[in-house]
Amino acid sequence: MADRNAPIGVFDSGIGGLTVAREIIRQIPDEPIVYFGDTARLPYGSKSKDTIIRFSRQVLHFLESQRVKAIVIACNTASAYALDTLQRETDLPVIGVIRSGAHMAAQMTRNGRIGVIGTAGTIKSGIYGDTIRQFKPDAEVFGKACPLFVPLVEEGLWHDSVTEEIASRYTAELKGKFIDTLVMGCTHYPLIRSTLRRVMGENVTLVNPAYETAIEVKGMLEANDLTCLVTPEEKYQFFVSDQAEEFTSFAKSILPEEVRETKKINIEEY
Ligand code: DGL
Repeated sequence: MADRNAPIGVFDSGIGGLTVAREIIRQIPDEPIVYFGDTARLPYGSKSKDTIIRFSRQVLHFLESQRVKAIVIACNTASAYALDTLQRETDLPVIGVIRSGAHMAAQMTRNGRIGVIGTAGTIKSGIYGDTIRQFKPDAEVFGKACPLFVPLVEEGLWHDSVTEEIASRYTAELKGKFIDTLVMGCTHYPLIRSTLRRVMGENVTLVNPAYETAIEVKGMLEANDLTCLVTPEEKYQFFVSDQAEEFTSFAKSILPEEVRETKKINIEEY
C-alpha cells in the first residue's frame, strides 16, 4: 500500500507537461509532486509506439524509485501509446490525459462534430476518436497533426504572428468540417490557447484535457485514501534527462514561485 503522504509522479517528454502539473497544483495544492521531463529524448510526438513504450517504462521505473503514490502521464503521445502497458506493469494507479480530454469533448459538443489537434503520434493512434465514441457513439471526430506547434511554443512564440499563420493553415481543414469543439490534444497547446481561440472563433469550444485530468487525479486519490495529510516541506521536485537550467527557467514562466531547481538524471539507467 502506497504512503498517502508520498508525491504524485507526473511525467512528460519535456516542459509541456507543466501545463498538467499547473492544473494539479491549482486543484489539489496540498499534494506533493515529483515531475520528470524527458528533455534528452523529446520530441515523443514523432517517435514509434515501441520507442514510446520503452521510454515510458524507464520513466515508470524512475518514478517508482522516488516512491510516488500514483502516476500521471501528462504527455498525450505517451498516454496514447503506453498507458495500458504502464497500468499492467505497476500496482500504482496510472492516469493518462486522453480519457479526460475525450470525456470533456463528448460532454461539450452540441453538434457532435469534434476536432482533435495533437502530435503526429497521437493523431495516428486514433485514440481520441475511439475514446470520444465510448462516451458519445455517434460523434464525428476529425484529427489533425500539428507538428510545428511544439517548436513554436518552445521558442516562446506564444503570441507571434508566425504562430497565428501556422495555426490558420492547420485548422482550415477542421473549420471546413464545421466542428463546434476542439481538443487541444498536446501538452503545449494550452500555451497558445489565445491564438487558437482567435483562429477558431468564439463559437468553437476549446478543450484542455489537463483541467479534467486534475479532477480525475483528485477523485482517484480520494477513492483510494491517498490524499496527502502531511505536506512535506519540499513540495515540488523537478527532474529532467538534459538541460536542467533551461527547464528551470521555462518552468518558472509556467509555475511562478514553485520551481527552485531541477536535477538532471540518467534515465537510461532505469
Ligand atoms: N508532450 C507531447 C504530447 O503531449 C508533445 C511534445 C513531444 O512531441 O514530445 O504529445
